[in-house]
Amino acid sequence: MIRISEDQKLITLETLHSTYQMKIDQYGFLLHLYYGSKISGDASILIVPRDHGFSGNPYDAGNDRTYSLDHLPQEYSVYGGADYRSTALEMKNEDGSYGCDLRFHSLKMSEGKYALEGLPASYAANPAKDWISPHASSLCFSKEDNAESLCITLRDKVSGVEVDLLYGVFYEEDVITRAVRIRNNGSDPVRLEHVSSLNLDYSYGAYDLTIFHGRHVMERLPQKHALGHGIFSIGSSRGTTSHQYNPFVMLSTKNATEDAGECYGIHLMYSGNFHMTAEMDQFKQTRLTMGAGDSTFSWKLSAGETFTAPEVILSYSEAGFSTLTNRIHNFINKSVIRGGWKTKMRPVLLNNWEATYFDFNGDKLSSLADSARDLGMDLLVLDDGWFGKREGDTSGLGDWKVNTDKLGCSMGELAKAVNDRGLLFGLWFEPEAISEDSDLYRAHPDYALKIHGRDPVRSRFQLVLDFSRKEVVDCIWEQMKEILDNAHISYVKWDMNRSLSDLYSKALPADRQGEVSHRYVLGLYELLERLNRTYPDLLIEGCSGGGGRFDAGMLYYTPQIWCSDNTDAINRLEIQYGTSFGYPISAVGSHVSAVPNHQTGRITPFHTRGVVASAGSFGYELDPTLLSDEEKAQIREQIKSFKQDYALSHEGDYFRLASPMGQGLDCLPNALGYDDDLSAWQFVSKEQDRALVSFVMTDAKGNPLTRFLRLKGLDQEAIYHIEELDADYPASLLMNAGIPLPFLGAYEGDTWHLQRI
Ligand code: GLA
Repeated sequence: MIRISEDQKLITLETLHSTYQMKIDQYGFLLHLYYGSKISGDASILIVPRDHGFSGNPYDAGNDRTYSLDHLPQEYSVYGGADYRSTALEMKNEDGSYGCDLRFHSLKMSEGKYALEGLPASYAANPAKDWISPHASSLCFSKEDNAESLCITLRDKVSGVEVDLLYGVFYEEDVITRAVRIRNNGSDPVRLEHVSSLNLDYSYGAYDLTIFHGRHVMERLPQKHALGHGIFSIGSSRGTTSHQYNPFVMLSTKNATEDAGECYGIHLMYSGNFHMTAEMDQFKQTRLTMGAGDSTFSWKLSAGETFTAPEVILSYSEAGFSTLTNRIHNFINKSVIRGGWKTKMRPVLLNNWEATYFDFNGDKLSSLADSARDLGMDLLVLDDGWFGKREGDTSGLGDWKVNTDKLGCSMGELAKAVNDRGLLFGLWFEPEAISEDSDLYRAHPDYALKIHGRDPVRSRFQLVLDFSRKEVVDCIWEQMKEILDNAHISYVKWDMNRSLSDLYSKALPADRQGEVSHRYVLGLYELLERLNRTYPDLLIEGCSGGGGRFDAGMLYYTPQIWCSDNTDAINRLEIQYGTSFGYPISAVGSHVSAVPNHQTGRITPFHTRGVVASAGSFGYELDPTLLSDEEKAQIREQIKSFKQDYALSHEGDYFRLASPMGQGLDCLPNALGYDDDLSAWQFVSKEQDRALVSFVMTDAKGNPLTRFLRLKGLDQEAIYHIEELDADYPASLLMNAGIPLPFLGAYEGDTWHLQRI
């Protein structure tokens, strides 16, 4: 719900459990008052004007030394006035100065959710269209149209630049989205040197910030930082969001746990360079900014032009990380992920990468398809190596022409042969990459990102295509379309196997080179949008050396993302644990692979590998023809239970019971008999009639402790039957007293099925 006070100065956004409030003050500055648990009334009482010394005052405040942007909480802070914290906007004028003074200009609102041109954005049942400038003082939530939009326009009088602050309010979901549009209505060009989509100021309080850091094959590991004086920042300059830092962070009150404390989830819906800063200032106030672009970003905004900064999704929980997670999971599943596969059961797939790497031919693929069919899988995915001259990773990228010699047939025939076995067929592409040893590179060496006169950096022997150029995007689109139009392909794995470097685009003048990395992402989104529109039934799985571009922006185009190139079940527990805070189970590509594991050499039981992988969009990444009959029987069983439990795991609520990373984010252990070597999680149906409890031992010790689990989210008053134990227990006992686990050796695990009786 959006409420505007009668004097049109107090602006309140409300969701089921949260309130977000702003105020246009006497000078026209837009102050941020409050974001947290539901309140009524005017939070302006939190604004306490004081003469703080050495704090500058806007000219029109006259002799009032108590009014200063040095300490007032801002809704969208700018560099160049008297706000010396990390600011959201840095704008350079034609005369070289950084002056910018944003004051309230106008506001309008609409039912439905705003969209962003050329960028992903969350959506509601209806788009925002009938914008009104309010005389009516409130816009009410209506069920069919589950969101509302607000646009507050601020204006810098001298340059003529206008900044639209866009807000989407999803009442039931407890989500508020923000985005920013900057329009140059003046006559001179300006340069945007730094644009955040979000500025979030807290007037007081002590906060922890959890970030998700990592590296290739160990992505999204949570780390909680107590914020103190100074600036804490993360980001990416790699051109993708990166394995190293995810564009999702959580801010929480001190000592928040899975079950208690105020938490804020903040997703940047973007897939390229980004920045995030969290600063505690001189007065112990906290400011968080987040947006696209690194320190080299610089965007020339000529008269009449508009720049749009990507969306940020803010979710709130008054009751700890579990509630936050479930609100986020529901929101992403409902309002970010699109397309025919949004609600359909995702196919259980067999991917040939770890089975064959580049070493396959038509016969090998036929035998994999036969096994996949016999074992009850739904989809065969042909990974890297089917095109151009691609016998290894040194050549062929950019030449998306079927290697019929290797396959022994056309792609259409191969897809048909797979379909004839009752399986869907899927194909790998790496559309953004180019090998120097390729026909495309020989014909168009300038299509690669390179700086004139300098040798480019190679990574995995390849270069990156300049997707900021339309003709480059078109060239790849034409090639992909040719393949997709001539073979029955149901799934595409969209890979991207290196970071960007050598940022220079031949198509842009010198004073626009600071735009290349963002224009690259816009080109990427354009191609993904074409793919989605032209092939609405195609399931696209994102990938970037596993989880190097795992973000809400990609999820708008690719409903699932290969979570990590690391398929080791024990390492995956950590990776999937971290990923679960910000991303739903449906988004997490997760496969059972062979042992010894190709990344770690570890041997884990087949059953455990199934338990871990089924907490994701599930499949196999091995050669089933090499498996024993017993293992094949296990595959059949795993697929059967995955499908039976699908609604529960993909639509139910998710709870982390015991962290694979020691204490995890909790200050108090959730698992009684808590130890470092147990990982456990739980799904509960929305109706609370069914639940799944999975647990895996990540290590073994002599004379082991008995492990207990306290379950979560069950119907307090009910009795549940645990199928595997053939026993009935009251929910209150399972949730408060806990239940002992059977003795398990290292790497052993299991799943229990609970049914309310
Ligand atoms: C990346 C992906 C893998 C596989 C290879 C193929 O590493 O993450 O899953 O597709 O590329 O080259």
